[in-house]
Amino acid sequence: MSYDFDTIVDRRLTNSIKWNRYPEEVLPLWVADMDFVTPEPILEALSENLKDGVIGYEVASIKLQKVVCARMDELYGWQIAPEMVLATPGVVSGFNAAARAVCGAGEGLLIQPPVYFPFLAVHENQKLTSQFAPLAKVTEKGILRYKIDLEAFEATIDSNDAKTRMFLFCNPHNPVGKIFTREELSQLAEICLRKGVVICSDEIHSELIFGERRHIPLATLSSEIAEQTITLIASSKTFNTAGLFFGFAIIPNPELRKRYQASLKEMTLHVTSAGQIAAQAAYSGACDDWLKEVLAYLRANRDFLANFVRENIPELEQTLPDATYLTWLDCNPLIESGMLTGSPHEFFLQRAKVALSDGATFGPGGEGFVRLNFACPRSILEEALTRIKASLAT
Ligand SMILES: Cc1ncc(COP(=O)(O)O)c(C=O)c1O
Repeated sequence: MSYDFDTIVDRRLTNSIKWNRYPEEVLPLWVADMDFVTPEPILEALSENLKDGVIGYEVASIKLQKVVCARMDELYGWQIAPEMVLATPGVVSGFNAAARAVCGAGEGLLIQPPVYFPFLAVHENQKLTSQFAPLAKVTEKGILRYKIDLEAFEATIDSNDAKTRMFLFCNPHNPVGKIFTREELSQLAEICLRKGVVICSDEIHSELIFGERRHIPLATLSSEIAEQTITLIASSKTFNTAGLFFGFAIIPNPELRKRYQASLKEMTLHVTSAGQIAAQAAYSGACDDWLKEVLAYLRANRDFLANFVRENIPELEQTLPDATYLTWLDCNPLIESGMLTGSPHEFFLQRAKVALSDGATFGPGGEGFVRLNFACPRSILEEALTRIKASLAT
């Protein structure tokens, strides 16, 4: 390995949310950023940009739009025009802007819980009706996997007395780590096309994938689907620049794009020059070796975690994520057998001094679960797992 992912960076010295929310004795494996140093080409581009010493307002960068087009073509053979790419201050603002552009007050927004918790806040933020089509949990050879219940998905459309305007999709899926297959994507998209539902596809985890499976941007399935889809991507999750809050929407349909632009304006969503510069450097190709190695390290962490749990806490049911650096852990069997009491998140925080994400905040199907972020040096992961094991009553 030419990059060092083992050294512990003391992030408590910074304003890191991950390392400052809980007391010093707590190991934080919750919010989704990596404890690794951001790739050098990005750091260099940022400091190069500061050299003239003036940090003024900037125009949206054409260069960035072109770099995004080149990356989409290289990764997926997806040919888009620069004007289809709109910069946003991150993907969460990006999907709130999409909901505002597409849905009227009280109309329906469909999501598939358990899902990244800011998805659940969009209903409240934009005054929309909640429509939940939960993913179906299945256990295969001791590993938790999730499937789409297509009938339930279709039945959820226009439920709760509200016309469904938008489906907010998470592909790859956080927290279950699933990459959707071409067949699954086609089936979902076919229903949405038939029912006139716009799809907003959050693909922020699309380059954090392990193994042979490939990510397929939903909008690449057909031109009809592309016309009805807003795709949200960012280089921030992949290249660890989350604090810069920068992402982009890809919207081939000019009319939808106009509405989206109007939303960005109404919500006064401006991007920073640092965010643009980091994204340009991230997608320039100069960070691709780093990415290859970080993925190998993350994959080894994922497997280390899976083996540890299998050997030491077999009652704990786990996903083996194909994508994301997040494992989704079902603690309900531990609760049922009396090894753990109360909320698993609180239990591990108090007894193990390990902070995980509380599954209950991911919506229906998340109760009794925790999400563990394994993007950290292996020694931290091992210490956290050892503490978790020791905290359980046997
Ligand atoms: C599915 C998903 N979307 C969006 C985000 C965050 O996006 P941003 O920080 O660009 O707003 C995350 C962060 O974990 C995520 O998992």
